[in-house]
Amino acid sequence: MGAVTRLMRPLQAQIDLSALQHNLGVARGHAPQSRTMAVIKANGYGHGMLRVAQALEAAEGFAVLNVEEAVALREAGFNQTILLLEGFFSADELPTLAEYHLASVIHCPEQVEMLEMAGLPVKIDVFLKLNSGMNRLGFRPEAFGAALQRLQTARAVGRVTLMTHFACADEAQGVAAQLDCFNRLAAGLDAPRSLANSAALLRYPEAHGDWVRPGIMLYGSSPFADASAASLDLKPVMTLTSTLIGLQELQAGEAVGYGATFHAEQPTRVGIVACGYADGYPRHAPTGTPVLVNGQRSRTLGRVSMDMLCVDLTGISGAGIGSPVTLWGKGLPVEEVANAAGTLSYELLCALAPRVPVTETHG
Ligand SMILES: Cc1ncc(COP(=O)(O)O)c(C=O)c1O
Repeated sequence: MGAVTRLMRPLQAQIDLSALQHNLGVARGHAPQSRTMAVIKANGYGHGMLRVAQALEAAEGFAVLNVEEAVALREAGFNQTILLLEGFFSADELPTLAEYHLASVIHCPEQVEMLEMAGLPVKIDVFLKLNSGMNRLGFRPEAFGAALQRLQTARAVGRVTLMTHFACADEAQGVAAQLDCFNRLAAGLDAPRSLANSAALLRYPEAHGDWVRPGIMLYGSSPFADASAASLDLKPVMTLTSTLIGLQELQAGEAVGYGATFHAEQPTRVGIVACGYADGYPRHAPTGTPVLVNGQRSRTLGRVSMDMLCVDLTGISGAGIGSPVTLWGKGLPVEEVANAAGTLSYELLCALAPRVPVTETHG
């Protein structure tokens, strides 16, 4: 059935498993003393959680969002540390955490209390989260010590790792203030530490700690606005390709697409691509968003519709029905498309729609 579907509509996402492994190697090269907790939530940033975990089985741990993802990983046979990045949402989940040996972030006193009240057959490892300045999840510095003490004496709790998350590791502001805060609180405590997302892993060795938590870099995308993925030796994992399924010859003054937002200033050859916002392509991508047609760089024209978008064929040699189109990936970094659309690569990758057929490649 899958092959038949692909024959009927040319859009597909290719996932390069070798690139995933290469990018893990890059992460390890930057943080050779740390264990790697590969962040594979949001369906492996849109790449398929189990597929990604399989390719990254050399990682010592996987970070996911919820118990369902974690259980799916265990049931697929992964024995690594599995961390719930927001922890459990209710005490009802604790027996499952114990049964499947899942580690949990602990970010609020209510979770500590649930652990204190729990009677569990095995202890649960926890990552105690310090709010070092991001002000999203975690204990404020003045409450951190008390939370740690409670966890250390709770019968249901096994190993405690100290953790924080950076708000600006990818920006000029960097991690200094948050790192100082974390180091002050962790000083003298004999516990493993986990701080670094991709940006901190790449730029701040002093923040590596015992467990790094790379996400976006594993998928071959740069976390930085001022550094390309290629300059960081990262290889794109997802390549979204389609073909031209229609052609239009616009006369000067004619418009294309919903809302007639693009008007041709001169006679313009337009290609219609089988890819739209229902596939995960951003509807807010404006005219001028980069795209490859026949391997040549071009731009989108007018509004993205549900199942199609329009591209400029001016200067594209040999373009016709069936010509290959790359929406992002090899040859066109997803960051460039995201940037044109006013968003981040994270959002585009995660938004890949389930209706898009996926094929796996190896290089
Ligand atoms: C707590 C935590 N750690 C690590 C990551 C990975 O971040 P990145 O994809 O920027 O490497 C995330 C991603 O959202 C996260 O929430």
